Amino acid sequence: LSVEIYDQFTQVRQLSEEICQPLATEDYVVQPDVDVSPPKWHLAHTTWFFEQIVLSAYEKNFRPYDPDYLFLFNSYYESFGKRAARAKRGFLSRPNVEQIYTYRKAINERMATLLSREPLPKEARALIELGLQHEQQHQELLGMDIKYILSCTFGETNYPSNIKPSVALANTMIEFAGGLTTIGATDPTTFSYDNESGAHQVYLQPFALARRCVTNGEYRAFIEDGGYQDFRHWLSDGWQQVQTQKWQAPLYWEKRDNEWCEFSVADWQPLDPHQPVVHVSYHEAQAFAKWSAARLATEFEWEYAAKTQASTDGAFLEDKVWQPEHCAAQKNDQLAAMFGNVWEWTQSAYLPYPRFRAAADALQEYNSKFMVNQMVLRGGCCATPRKHIRASYRNFFYPHQRWVFSGIRLARDL
Ligand SMILES: [Fe+2]
Repeated sequence: LSVEIYDQFTQVRQLSEEICQPLATEDYVVQPDVDVSPPKWHLAHTTWFFEQIVLSAYEKNFRPYDPDYLFLFNSYYESFGKRAARAKRGFLSRPNVEQIYTYRKAINERMATLLSREPLPKEARALIELGLQHEQQHQELLGMDIKYILSCTFGETNYPSNIKPSVALANTMIEFAGGLTTIGATDPTTFSYDNESGAHQVYLQPFALARRCVTNGEYRAFIEDGGYQDFRHWLSDGWQQVQTQKWQAPLYWEKRDNEWCEFSVADWQPLDPHQPVVHVSYHEAQAFAKWSAARLATEFEWEYAAKTQASTDGAFLEDKVWQPEHCAAQKNDQLAAMFGNVWEWTQSAYLPYPRFRAAADALQEYNSKFMVNQMVLRGGCCATPRKHIRASYRNFFYPHQRWVFSGIRLARDL
């Protein structure tokens, strides 16, 4: 069993470094927005997690690799004391990139020693599993942050664009009768976070869900219809964002020679009308849905539909396309790309489920303290590792955030 977990550990740790491989050294350091962490910081912080959460508890004669690192690479854990300011992560030219890779190697070796210990206590195994899930979340954040960083630079990037263009599937709606359904993680043999445990019954009214997500072409029609100039489509907070941020289009859309272009992690390219729209905020998703005489799904409708009618997946991190793929061929009564491609905004606030219990000790800070003012997104995206996502998985972001690979699937009342 330890061999199995050791292999998983090695694979996950290597993948984080592979994601960064096309970067130039300078790309690792900058923080062009408070939400965008330097890639170097992600590589160090995920290592800190194993050092602080696993090694400090289970390694014999534990001593910190460098006491400064415990301060520098703590993200938001009050339980572990003082930490470097989040908004100033990009100020740190030291430790440099090479030193961070050395740190990763050293902690990997110490983890390998721990993993060779037999038998590994059950609690230690659970924490290592959490450390790997945590690193997978940061792999997705790396994808988001690297895209943002490279969008601010000049010249070619070394990331490939492997998207195969095709024509989007007709966007019909699939109807669901509704009724009582079980929501939440139900399989005790697979990993789940505390925020999705506590399976419970939810009653769904009859509803319909779109077979695929909204495309660039459909979203462009909203723009051309004056969507960003008409307050009636927007929630008050969203309209304020449109005014103060001067939003005219999704993030990474830019008009060049009167044509819309979009930044993929590879380069700027003409907007592909058939590709799913991505990098919209909750407010934009909500406004688009209202303009379309539709709405966003609740997270419960989404989960029920994903468990019963989901068909072929969209793109994942392993595909290394860094963009949502077209949804073309599809069986008639199935929902395309519920998993992968884009995180789908739901109209559900991120709240505890009934009888919610936060994880113990420091890990109660992992999810539960964020349960206010954020909205739930479902299904994973083109930067999510395939094995990381599941139907009950709840992601959450603030309504104004849009550097996430986030998109729109429409729903309707029946
Ligand atoms: Fe983290």
